[in-house]
Amino acid sequence: SGWITNTTSSGEFDGKVGSTVLLHSHEEIPATRVLVVGLGEEAKFGLEAARKAAGTAIQSAKKLKAKRVGTILHGAGTGGIKPAEAAEALALGSILAEYAYDGFTTKQDEDRSHKILNLTVVESDAKKISDINDGLESGTVIAEAVNHARDLINSPSNRMTPDDMATRARAITKEVSAVKCMILGPKDIKEKGMGAFWSVAQGSKQEPRMIVLRYDGGGRETYGLVGKGITFDTGGISIKPSKKMSEMKYDMSGAAAVMEAVRAIAKLKLKKRVVAVLPCTENMPGGGASKPGDVVGTFSGKTVEIINTDAEGRLVLCDALAYAKKLGATKLVDLATLTGACVVALGDAAFAVLGNNEKWIEAVLDASEKSGERGWQLPLYEEYEEYLKSDVADIANCTEHGKAGTAVGATFLKEFVGNTAWAHLDIAGTAWKEKGDGYIGKGATGSGVRTLIELLRGRE
Ligand code: BES
Ligand code: MN
Ligand code: ZN
Repeated sequence: SGWITNTTSSGEFDGKVGSTVLLHSHEEIPATRVLVVGLGEEAKFGLEAARKAAGTAIQSAKKLKAKRVGTILHGAGTGGIKPAEAAEALALGSILAEYAYDGFTTKQDEDRSHKILNLTVVESDAKKISDINDGLESGTVIAEAVNHARDLINSPSNRMTPDDMATRARAITKEVSAVKCMILGPKDIKEKGMGAFWSVAQGSKQEPRMIVLRYDGGGRETYGLVGKGITFDTGGISIKPSKKMSEMKYDMSGAAAVMEAVRAIAKLKLKKRVVAVLPCTENMPGGGASKPGDVVGTFSGKTVEIINTDAEGRLVLCDALAYAKKLGATKLVDLATLTGACVVALGDAAFAVLGNNEKWIEAVLDASEKSGERGWQLPLYEEYEEYLKSDVADIANCTEHGKAGTAVGATFLKEFVGNTAWAHLDIAGTAWKEKGDGYIGKGATGSGVRTLIELLRGRE
């Protein structure tokens, strides 16, 4: 009846991405209310706008306490997007926007706990239905992987210990039988000579866990996915200032992202072979903690001088990367909340990508772009190797001057991957949002999950 046209001609609604207008149908149609959502400029329309529109719709519907929502697909008509991709974007944007961390409050908060129970996609062209169903299914698997990771990350450190991470890994193998796991405890970690990982774990009462997940969908390569799993980072003896230290529960975002990505990769039955290695421990200043100046051995045989115990991520990762190679990895990617410098450089707008192989870096950047996560390459100049010279060990874990912090962190890791193609994603800025935006609310974002899945999908 011209309702929607009227909102634009009256100037109430401009169609910008994120804009909405609500119409009451007064029983002229079965739905009680119709929410019109802006898709933005036609020239700029793409998958990301489709995800945003879906997210905006769900966030608005949530505020309206809707239980059931029906929608058309965005972008598969004049937008020119393939129905399967439009459907995946719709499911993804909707399910990510629907997420809220439950937490442990004893009083019910109706706004936060309201759940949309059903989302129906309406399509009049029967030929598109099968593709749309496929897209909705893959979008759901991917979004649930991200939301599971967000749950792990948002959990406080006393309720998400290294052993709790191992429990989640085992639960994944029960649910998805194609995923296998192996969990190393203190004895194995020491016996295998993972001295750098072990040195970080020794400051804490919580036992460390090296979690290994495997999935074999075939293929020539073995993709080694490594994730930093510091369930809490106090800094150790080089202790952090107390301001905002509570956020350091998110220092296991890399491990959480890899773990849930593996589950999704198996559920999507991707034809790739994966070995994931997740070094999980707290970084605490206990009586057994490393002191600045200590020298430790590593799985690779190299010795490391610990200049600063707060540069613990690279210590656990150097053993995990070397171990992933030992387990057969022929291509490596690691995800880590590695440096504050990365937050300074890129904020929460993009993760940093560095590595030793331009083609592999290109593949990672491509995957991130397609998945709707943003990555930005930083250089890994040879000059930075000078920064890590030590008088007493093969390499120092960091510098005192702090220059080029993100690249220096990556330079340290580079020494442990040898000739294997390797990409390092510093997700320190993107893994956590102080304020929500688009279809991702505040707190843990699950950064990297979508990029990893897209990378292993290898779609054109
Ligand atoms: N987990 C931190 C990095 C971090 C900082 C992540 C802020 C998210 C937000 C990491 O372990 C760390 O402390 N890095 C040090 C390295 C330095 C001592 C060379 C840093 O960035 O200050
Ligand atoms: Mn640290
Ligand atoms: Zn850390």
